[in-house]
Amino acid sequence: MLRLPKVIGHRGAAASAPENTLESFERAALLGARWVEFDAKLSRDGVVIIMHDDTLDRTTSGRGPVAKADWSQISRLDAGAWFGPNWRGVKVPRLDETIALLARLGLNANIEIKPCPGREVETAAAVIEVVREHWPKDREPPLLSSFALESMVVARDLAPELPRGLLIWDTPEIWRSEAGRLGCLSVHFSGRSLPRDLKAVKQAGLGIAVYTVNDRRKARRLLDAGVDSIISDSPDTVLAA
Ligand code: G3P
Ligand code: MG
Repeated sequence: MLRLPKVIGHRGAAASAPENTLESFERAALLGARWVEFDAKLSRDGVVIIMHDDTLDRTTSGRGPVAKADWSQISRLDAGAWFGPNWRGVKVPRLDETIALLARLGLNANIEIKPCPGREVETAAAVIEVVREHWPKDREPPLLSSFALESMVVARDLAPELPRGLLIWDTPEIWRSEAGRLGCLSVHFSGRSLPRDLKAVKQAGLGIAVYTVNDRRKARRLLDAGVDSIISDSPDTVLAA
């Protein structure tokens, strides 16, 4: 049985710190979140890093595809200045150092496996390897999710002991066929595309998370409708709801 928190900080606390950075996870903790969500992918040389996009352009001082950059290059980039001058010098974190910080802060995680195209299998395998090596054995394990069903199959087969959440974008009804097949304990729906019958998801014994909700009233409505967890850029806003 998976116990989801009422709020999960999206990319940390993406509304008030540069997303997917250690600083963003610290901010989420400060704002009261007990869990954070972040996106994990591979550098060219196979290091698991935390970044959303397939290219470096939007959130770092680098250019071009992540899949063509080695960790030694990525580690030198600025991942904070795009968000504001006060964040200059913030770095792209690796998954292992992220896990170490979460352990210090007492945070749990929804690790979204976000492979660059064509790297679905190796990304999932690499995430699992890092989690196995670094996630503290005495803590509740992280929840793995992915839009990439191929990555979810790898997670199911390589690490059946790690809980999985089915992440869905615009075809909410696929929870009916995919959640069971992939052995998921929760389904993560987009707030813009919810299933016709949320109660049926609950009745199937699945937890429900909805992303990305930053509006307090919408969060309240969803929680009242039976949603377990709101994934939000602004965890303090949801907690206030
Ligand atoms: O995991 C929920 C959410 O993060 C999925 O969408 O694009 O923000 O990674 P995205
Ligand atoms: Mg994500």
